Amino acid sequence: MPNLPELAHRTFFRTLSLLSPKGQGVILRRYFDWWHRTPDPWKLSTDGYEQHKYRSTLEHVPARPYRRIVEVGCAEGVFTHALAATYPDAEITGMDVSGRALARARERVPEEGGRVRFVQADLLTHPVERSFELAFCSETLYYLGRHERLQRAAEQLSGLLVPDGVLVAVHPWPEASRLHGYLDAHESLKRLGEEVYTASSRPFAVTVYGAKPS
Ligand SMILES: C[S@@+](CC[C@H](N)C(=O)[O-])C[C@H]1O[C@@H](n2cnc3c(N)ncnc32)[C@H](O)[C@@H]1O
Repeated sequence: MPNLPELAHRTFFRTLSLLSPKGQGVILRRYFDWWHRTPDPWKLSTDGYEQHKYRSTLEHVPARPYRRIVEVGCAEGVFTHALAATYPDAEITGMDVSGRALARARERVPEEGGRVRFVQADLLTHPVERSFELAFCSETLYYLGRHERLQRAAEQLSGLLVPDGVLVAVHPWPEASRLHGYLDAHESLKRLGEEVYTASSRPFAVTVYGAKPS
């Protein structure tokens, strides 16, 4: 069961999702720019729980060479930095709705030689291309609100992947079973595995999908 602040949080974002996708995107951008008024608002770079989550996420990525990687909802680029170190030969794109978060991400992971780049985009409305072999979406889906928007997010995430590409989704447990259910329901995605980490006060699930060949 989510606690009271989480319930209020989810209700707020569900209400926002009654707007048009464009209107929702405008408010999300303003909200997350405001949230990023001070650096690293979630303490992603220093919190032991977040570091554990990043390590656990990377452990679940099927071992193969990846040339193009995207992180959706990259915030200030803390996990993007880990990706750049883990995959030194890959091109990495960090995508987020907040320009302020991305300005800090660019300081953390300079867009040297074009290998790493950060794009301001709303997952719900950004035109996607099937160009990534590996995609991550962590701690982001619960901001998108109602059923129809989560279906749209699943469509967009699957639309980022080349055939046989891999998607890794990470969200709090047990809410992840509902959020990742939209990925399970998508015709182009096949669940490859899931691990639920229950040892911390905020359990989470890492769920891995493969893109079915078209
Ligand atoms: C809690 S942070 C997660 C950061 C990172 N993925 C992690 O797990 O450490 C959520 C991020 O998602 C971004 N976000 C929320 N809705 C979005 C959307 N519709 N499109 C793109 N980014 C979005 C926010 O701006 C925020 O930076």
